[in-house]
Amino acid sequence: MELIKQKIGVVGGSQGLGSWIVKYFRSKGADARFSSRKENSEFDSNLQLADWADIVVLAVPISAMANVMEEVFPALDDKYLIDVCSVKKFVIEKYLQLRQVYTEVLPKYCSIHPMFSHRIKSFDGNVVLFNHNDGAEDLEDALKKCFLEDGGVVKDVQYIKHDKLMGLVQGLNHFNVFVSAKTMARFDEDFEDIKSVASPPYRIFIVFYTRYVLQNPLLYADIQMRNEYVYEVVRIFRDEMNRLFDIIQTRDRDQFMEYIMEMQGFFGQNEGDIELSSHLMQKLSQKLEEK
Ligand SMILES: NC(=O)c1ccc[n+]([C@@H]2O[C@H](COP(=O)([O-])OP(=O)(O)OC[C@H]3O[C@@H](n4cnc5c(N)ncnc54)[C@H](OP(=O)(O)O)[C@@H]3O)[C@@H](O)[C@H]2O)c1
Repeated sequence: MELIKQKIGVVGGSQGLGSWIVKYFRSKGADARFSSRKENSEFDSNLQLADWADIVVLAVPISAMANVMEEVFPALDDKYLIDVCSVKKFVIEKYLQLRQVYTEVLPKYCSIHPMFSHRIKSFDGNVVLFNHNDGAEDLEDALKKCFLEDGGVVKDVQYIKHDKLMGLVQGLNHFNVFVSAKTMARFDEDFEDIKSVASPPYRIFIVFYTRYVLQNPLLYADIQMRNEYVYEVVRIFRDEMNRLFDIIQTRDRDQFMEYIMEMQGFFGQNEGDIELSSHLMQKLSQKLEEK
């Protein structure tokens, strides 16, 4: 398949990741257009876009994915459908359910997860996960070829495994960051005072609290609430937080040591990251000294 010869219609292409996808395919020379709910939409409806396109890309918020897929599905016979949703299980289940309902409609479907936002400056080193394919192998091959040529990284991860891993990679880290950031905000010390005593190993956490807190919370809310494995992960987080809290409250140093040591086997497999952390600290020190 030659991607640039396809008409690519992005539902939700007016902003965010969808707008990046429109620009990306336009930069390749493809005819890429978008729909959204506002007046700058290039179509009167999502269905009209699906009628026009050869490839329909769903890039709407997670909470709108299922409804929008249902809305465009009747127009997808013999067309390609891509979703870029950050949560996979419910979207793929929705697709399979719609296939049962619209037996006469036979789309070719590829579910992917670009692991970056529209703010990236180049594809270099950025990862796209391929999570599910139903009859769209030629599209998947063409996308992978295109991304690899641009310096991207592609990886196959089955969709249930994807959501479990994202429960840890996104769900746990976002939850951890927001609870820590809220704690810092509630303690209400002067921000400059906090920063003035936070050397790089500590400052690096503040850098990321700030980054995540100041972004649009809708995407994080949807990841926390639509990826069913996040709930399982953060329940463990809460148990562990209570366990460690009790250890500190009872001033049980031996139990504290044991608490840390019992996970050293697991993290010992990843010892190489210590060197990486030293590198990051050094780079951050340099950057802070420049100011
Ligand atoms: N942002 C990221 O870093 C990122 C990374 C990987 C994957 N993703 C995935 O990409 C998708 C979009 O996320 P985002 O953060 O880019 O969202 P966003 O910035 O909120 O953009 C959503 C887009 O969808 C449009 N939209 C909303 N409801 C619609 C509807 N019913 N019909 C047509 N258009 C509609 C919005 O425009 P109007 O409001 O004008 O309708 C907007 O253009 C999500 O599924 C997310 O999981 C995002």
